[in-house]
Amino acid sequence: MQHNSQEPELAPAIIVIFGITGDLSRRYLLPSLYHLIKDGLLHEKTEIIGVTRGATTAEELLRTTKLCDQDSYNVCDPAALKKMHTHTRMVQMSLTGSADYAQLHQLLDDIEEKQGVCMNRLYYLSIPPQVYSPVIRLLGEQALNTSCQHGRAMTRLLVEKPFGFNLESAKELIKTTAEVFGEEQIFRIDHYLAKETVQNILTFRFQNPIFETLWDHRHIADISISAYEKIDIEGRATFYEPLGALRDFIQSHLIQVLAIVTMDQPKQFDSEYIHVAKQQVMQEIVPVPADQVDKWTRRGQYNGYREEVNNPNSTTETYAEITTFINSDRWQGVPIHLSTGKALHERKTEVRVGFRGAQGNSNNHLRFRIQPNEGIELDLVTKRPGFSNEIDKTAMDFSYAHDFESHGHPDAYERVLVDAVRGDHTLFATSEEVLASWRVVQPVLSEWAKRTNDLFFYPPGSNPLEATSQS
Ligand code: BG6
Repeated sequence: MQHNSQEPELAPAIIVIFGITGDLSRRYLLPSLYHLIKDGLLHEKTEIIGVTRGATTAEELLRTTKLCDQDSYNVCDPAALKKMHTHTRMVQMSLTGSADYAQLHQLLDDIEEKQGVCMNRLYYLSIPPQVYSPVIRLLGEQALNTSCQHGRAMTRLLVEKPFGFNLESAKELIKTTAEVFGEEQIFRIDHYLAKETVQNILTFRFQNPIFETLWDHRHIADISISAYEKIDIEGRATFYEPLGALRDFIQSHLIQVLAIVTMDQPKQFDSEYIHVAKQQVMQEIVPVPADQVDKWTRRGQYNGYREEVNNPNSTTETYAEITTFINSDRWQGVPIHLSTGKALHERKTEVRVGFRGAQGNSNNHLRFRIQPNEGIELDLVTKRPGFSNEIDKTAMDFSYAHDFESHGHPDAYERVLVDAVRGDHTLFATSEEVLASWRVVQPVLSEWAKRTNDLFFYPPGSNPLEATSQS
């Protein structure tokens, strides 16, 4: 992947990855670290420490991880690969053993002493969310939440979603975390925010005033935000079964995207004011009322899921859809549809804004194509060339591949890692945002938990909009 020249020179860091042999780490983190090393974006003194319960060696881990899948011909750059090997080491420890954390502390001190420099310390929790709290407590107990006392190095905690399993447990997790780490040390990852195409929604809205003047209920009829995946749960039964699509995708990624699409213009374009504007709109989202869950939500499960998770009665949804509203002057009465699912007919994440038209019929839709075929498209009506007055639908189309041909853009996880080392919170979720989005989905979760007969079933590879079968 190619980057442009104004990329930051980062401070030296020790990146400690808990759960380094897991799926997320192998799929996203390690390839991202490799690319950052290859592009010279990590300080040369950066060290990667993999925490694992098993006996996997760094050599084995890196050899069996597809680091260079995105590169031409899947071929790794030998120099970058060598650096990655040299700077990665494993620590075998129990996640609940206090003495092991003391040893980890010693190791980090030794590295800094050897390097002769204070380093940023990043703890990346890529472990089952059920063990976040005990791990965070032990990091605190063994003073791993502080960094070497001289210099300006910082210690930071990076946490993957889900932040809790419902509103109550999210509050608990936020409380436990706050007892050990200050809010400025915490980076709650929502990798959708780190996608270039999501960030560009803000630029598009606020740097093109022609659209911002139309951005309200007088001109916009509805908004749909959908994330369809072709992949199924890919064997991740333990991860997915307690979650389901509503928690896995809507509570986090899609509500964050919704906030980006609907927030007011921040007073300034910095982390603090962007979060103020986002939090404001997230608090105005109206949770689906418990007695209207039938009207505003739908959930489905792909055939074969129950066998895959070995639970014949599972009601975990692999497809979820909710419609919500924002209670503000700007968005009064505009339905916002959020939908996501696995094992669907296509892979497509997009935001579709429908503008109002004469007699309620709109000819104009604006589509932010988050992935794939990244770009922005505006549907227009045009006169078909010729002697008659026939009209046709056409689109104005901006495409990343076409317009930014020579610039690759950083992968979301590269961006997450760079921003965390830099200490930039803009693209991470605050505790208020996390709580606000749980508040939106909590009534739906509670209602769904009481039911067993509202799931529809769909064949893998099908279009959920065409699904009708009930259990
Ligand atoms: C993760 C979800 O957050 O996002 C996964 O837990 C999902 O279930 C993944 O597959 C999708 O990410 P992306 O970037 O491929 O759209």
